[in-house]
Amino acid sequence: MAKARLIYACTACGGVSPRWRGQCESCGAWNTLAEQAAPKQQLRPGAPLGPSSGPVPLAGFSQEHAPAAPSGLPELDRVLGQGLQPGAAILLGGEPGIGKSTLLLQLAGQVAATGRTAVYVSGEESLGQLATRARRLGLAHDALLASSTTSAAEAVDILGRRDAPAVVVVDSVQTMASSLADGVPGSPAQVRAVAAELVEAVKKSSSTLILVGHVTKEGLIAGPKILEHMVDTVLYLEGDRQHFYRILRVFKNRFGPTDELMVLEMLGDGLAPVPDPSTYFLGERDETASGSAVVLALEGKRPFAVEVQSLVSKSYLAMPRRTALGLDLNRLNLLLAVLEKRLGVQMGQSDIYAKTGGGLKLTDPGLDLGLVAAVLSSYYDRPLPPRSVFWGEVDLSGRIRPVSGHDARLKQAKRLGYKPIFHPPVEGKGTATLKDFQRALFGAG
Ligand code: TYD
Ligand code: MG
Repeated sequence: MAKARLIYACTACGGVSPRWRGQCESCGAWNTLAEQAAPKQQLRPGAPLGPSSGPVPLAGFSQEHAPAAPSGLPELDRVLGQGLQPGAAILLGGEPGIGKSTLLLQLAGQVAATGRTAVYVSGEESLGQLATRARRLGLAHDALLASSTTSAAEAVDILGRRDAPAVVVVDSVQTMASSLADGVPGSPAQVRAVAAELVEAVKKSSSTLILVGHVTKEGLIAGPKILEHMVDTVLYLEGDRQHFYRILRVFKNRFGPTDELMVLEMLGDGLAPVPDPSTYFLGERDETASGSAVVLALEGKRPFAVEVQSLVSKSYLAMPRRTALGLDLNRLNLLLAVLEKRLGVQMGQSDIYAKTGGGLKLTDPGLDLGLVAAVLSSYYDRPLPPRSVFWGEVDLSGRIRPVSGHDARLKQAKRLGYKPIFHPPVEGKGTATLKDFQRALFGAG
């Protein structure tokens, strides 16, 4: 018997190499190449969708698919742009246990409630488990069908039916097995083959495919990164399992805007959209405590009021501690260096902690000014003015720089009744340097 040819695939990005290497040539990750048998049949992700008759004039070409249909969850339709697009493949990524299956079973139930068929294909749970969950979520519709299988061919079969369901959920891409590739389910070759089969099938059907992909904290194990290019829309469900809120973010969207997001809350009977999430991350904030600032952060296109806390305390360690939760530690370190250099604030002998309210992960550069305010407030042990709010980027020279979405932030700050508002200079108003900012808040220091 001929020996199977071996190739080496990166477990992070899926890139393949004929030889083993210490570093993946595609994504640069170290020690991620794993041995696997070369695929039996070459998958062609770029293969034509049906018999090719050569190029056609775009002007005369009309879309044969029906327009997007509402999912039954209006907030989700807003996030997706138009709702569920027939023929589209959506990837929902997220850590295990974050609520992906819950959300998609609810979505399938909503679609079924409108009389359209929804099929939930699960390679993770038995029919009994799915039924129990559906009951718990209050979903009992005749049009909600389920199948417990790990065969990708079976899911392809469902998509290929003449009366294809409106929505087919496949949970998860890591548990499905394709006969077109070698390896165990979950391996890069299998994940890619399963997704390729399903995506090709949905393009020819009138269904919308939603694929679940697990992402782990440690990194992506043969995960959604490989698939992002193959699907039309990429959604990530994020959050902290210790907290009840979840954020659904759009990373890629062929049919609508990216950067959209929705906030959901995990309740006893499933995930519920938070109607006005603008103050959701403030929690039970104590305005009279030092070290607490409110930032109007822009995540996606939406301004949220988020609490940023900091604690500056005397250190007994040779290497004082710097800890950041929900924000980038490098950014904290950078801002501390700027405070030391530009304001002469000495914190070299202090442990410094910073976190965002509700564990929300923030990447908005406008966070800087609020973080600086929280750190200074704790350093001086003086609370910030009640109802004050901050946004602005701080650069290395100690200047406060404008950030995107100023008008949206300002409007939201006023709507929520914040005053005073500290923001970068815009049309002659606002604070330009950290020195001015420090003086305005704490006098001479
Ligand atoms: P799940 O949807 O199974 O996560 P994933 O598919 O992303 O792995 O969510 C599991 C968690 O959600 C589990 O810890 C229990 C919790 N949960 C609720 O709090 N309320 C509910 O109504 C449901 C169905 C789950
Ligand atoms: Mg699940």
